Amino acid sequence: MPKLIVANWKNNPKSLHEAARLAKATDFKGIAVAPPRIYLSSVAKLLKNASLARQNLEDDIPPKKLKIKYVILGHSDYRKAGETDAAINKKIKLALKHNFKVILCVGESKAIRRKGIPAAKRFITTQLQKDLAGIRNSKLKIQNLAIAYEPIWAISTEKNAKPDTPENAAQMIKHIKKVLYTKYMIRNTKVLYGGSVTPKNAKAFLSRKEIDGALVGRASLKPKLFQAIIKG
Ligand code: PGA
Repeated sequence: MPKLIVANWKNNPKSLHEAARLAKATDFKGIAVAPPRIYLSSVAKLLKNASLARQNLEDDIPPKKLKIKYVILGHSDYRKAGETDAAINKKIKLALKHNFKVILCVGESKAIRRKGIPAAKRFITTQLQKDLAGIRNSKLKIQNLAIAYEPIWAISTEKNAKPDTPENAAQMIKHIKKVLYTKYMIRNTKVLYGGSVTPKNAKAFLSRKEIDGALVGRASLKPKLFQAIIKG
């Protein structure tokens, strides 16, 4: 399975000019680019190889002409701002119904991880159950679902953020795949790792067979860093 690398620009960059520059420098096959909403239509026109992703959904469905392939849902920034699992569940169903590919972000807080890996696994199981409620017997194309395991404490915008170790990330991702299979009969789901991925550590994550790609925030804003991550 080819690995998927997603550039999550969050609210960056500051100008359309910079966004255009960044899009051109990021336009490679196997990459998905998630610019802020205001730049979506401009970036859509510039990408020839990379796919376009949208950060979250509101009640609207993005127009087909934008050619958005992926929708990132359940990112911790939005969860922190009050988005509930029930709201995320609704959005997942809506996005799948409209044939988007969904990248559902899950991840535990520092307080939970401090309790140990079993506690983190239990938290992730519950999060998946809530976010994917009712999916199993629906007519939705569940094969269009991907997961990003993003431990909150590892995301670069958090205080004292540190990437997870590739060993632990692989273990958590293995767990996620097991839950998807045993509870939802979903096989072959791509599960990415996200949280302070840089050129220094990308290879260690991406060379793991369990880890199917990376969701990259901060390092995706610097073409040199992002290209180094892609090249491995
Ligand atoms: P980061 O962000 O790579 O800057 O840690 C990842 C994310 O929030 O998706």
